[in-house]
Amino acid sequence: MLFRKKAAPAPDRLPRHVAVIMDGNGRWAKRRGLPRTAGHRAGAKTFETISRRANALGIDTMTFYAFSTENWKRPAEEVSALMDLFADYLRRIEQFQKENMRIRFLGDPAPLSDELRDLMRQAQEQSAGFTGTCVNLAINYGGRDEIVHAARQLAGQARDGILTPDAITEATLEQALYTGDCPPVDLLIRPGGEARISNFLLWQSAYAELYFCNTLWPDFGPDDLDRALAWFAARNRRFGGV
Ligand code: FPP
Repeated sequence: MLFRKKAAPAPDRLPRHVAVIMDGNGRWAKRRGLPRTAGHRAGAKTFETISRRANALGIDTMTFYAFSTENWKRPAEEVSALMDLFADYLRRIEQFQKENMRIRFLGDPAPLSDELRDLMRQAQEQSAGFTGTCVNLAINYGGRDEIVHAARQLAGQARDGILTPDAITEATLEQALYTGDCPPVDLLIRPGGEARISNFLLWQSAYAELYFCNTLWPDFGPDDLDRALAWFAARNRRFGGV
């Protein structure tokens, strides 16, 4: 039997901002008798494929959870392999910039190596004017940590007389988040079989549609993204109304 590939949703039914929790790398590797780091390497390839697909479809913003504030608890060799994958990707970033994709980072860069921070800064600066999909990489990111960071910034401004406490609104707090002027998350995708958001984009996902699937991240392909987008396009979003 022939299966016709489902067309991508019409642009007006596309989410503006898609967040992705890249889960299942470790299990993918274990099933193949490989070290967990091989799963992350395969996951890094999937990250590239999916960001390209999003760019081809015209999605405004994609945010990928690459390393959480809690991931430092993992074995040192796994942490170091992940940092190497981020650096390798950033050394090849021209390939993506040729495709007009913009890159940004969410999270606290302070504990990262000088080399990685330099690569991040360069990639962000070089792509600042690009108009394709904005790819946000969350590295040393935690949703609660982000809100504390924003609150601290606003408290500092209040102390310095730049802002009165009454002038602190949802809009000013939102602006102070790492995502700054990004649109709110419309669709949050978590492959890997777990149904939780794990401290990812807590504020930004307040009205996100949540899509969970069992596919492990390294096996998540463009068709899986299209399926999630088709599911999203059929949702009736009410934002608290009727
Ligand atoms: C969670 O799956 C995954 C991570 C903590 C790391 C995600 C990072 C990548 C996919 C690499 C991204 C690379 C670039 C260049 C952006 P897990 O390892 O906890 O999986 P498990 O639940 O099966 O053990």
